[in-house]
Amino acid sequence: MLRKRSYRSIRPDEEVEAVRESCIIAATVLDELCKLVKPGVTTYDLDQEGKKLIAEMGAESACYNYRVGEKIYPGHTCLSVNDEVVHGIGKLSRVLNEGDNITVDVCVFHNGFVGDNARTVLVGNASDEMKLLVERTQEALKLGIAQARAGNRVGDISHAVQTFVEGFGYNVVRNFVGHGVGRTMHEDPQIPNFGRKKSGAKLYPGMTLAIEPMVVAGSFDLVEDEDQWTARTKDGKPAAHFEHTVLVTEDEPEILTIPKK
Ligand code: MF3
Ligand code: CO
Repeated sequence: MLRKRSYRSIRPDEEVEAVRESCIIAATVLDELCKLVKPGVTTYDLDQEGKKLIAEMGAESACYNYRVGEKIYPGHTCLSVNDEVVHGIGKLSRVLNEGDNITVDVCVFHNGFVGDNARTVLVGNASDEMKLLVERTQEALKLGIAQARAGNRVGDISHAVQTFVEGFGYNVVRNFVGHGVGRTMHEDPQIPNFGRKKSGAKLYPGMTLAIEPMVVAGSFDLVEDEDQWTARTKDGKPAAHFEHTVLVTEDEPEILTIPKK
């Protein structure tokens, strides 16, 4: 297939290689942090560990000091527990309890390029309901990624995710979406987790996309905490969130956020 190089989300090979490096770092840090999740640990501890690991790998947090308007994000990672959907800030007062879920989101800069990934993990023994929510969200990510093929459109990813999770009575979040990944964390195209097949931007080889189903057990209405960042469900029902940065190729999509062995 012909590359449409004029389209700014399509990366030349050198840039793909740089994103690849950043993604390996982001995935390795995420993997390490997830291993530390257990009852009694605070989200502050996890964030501090994230800060350390990111630095050890010669990278920087893309979250730390991230600005949206007047707001500046103070954490190094995002740590969102249960009804917190995204952008939870590590806090000493947030102690993990058996049966909770926590989404660990790690986004790094390395050599000027971003790698972004997230995973929800269970804290100790969780209810079957919680387990299913997490498993099905992970499956939704797989189905979304499978649609990230040259010639498809963003809506094919969105539709695959939405129809799968709504089939269980869950909802997809509307306020936050997946995104292109490159020199900055949020590039075109936006990748909603809801939409129609064959709609939206066309996908080309060389696109690096963060695909990230954010799924809630109840309604998709969210509220923001006083910290101005933590987004949680209005009805208090739990959320789950999985994210990979993926490369669109001539054939199978390639997941870039795979940890170093
Ligand atoms: N992976 C998250 C995202 O895509 C990272 C957010 S960093 C924050 O939104 F600073 F906005 F929290
Ligand atoms: Co993201």
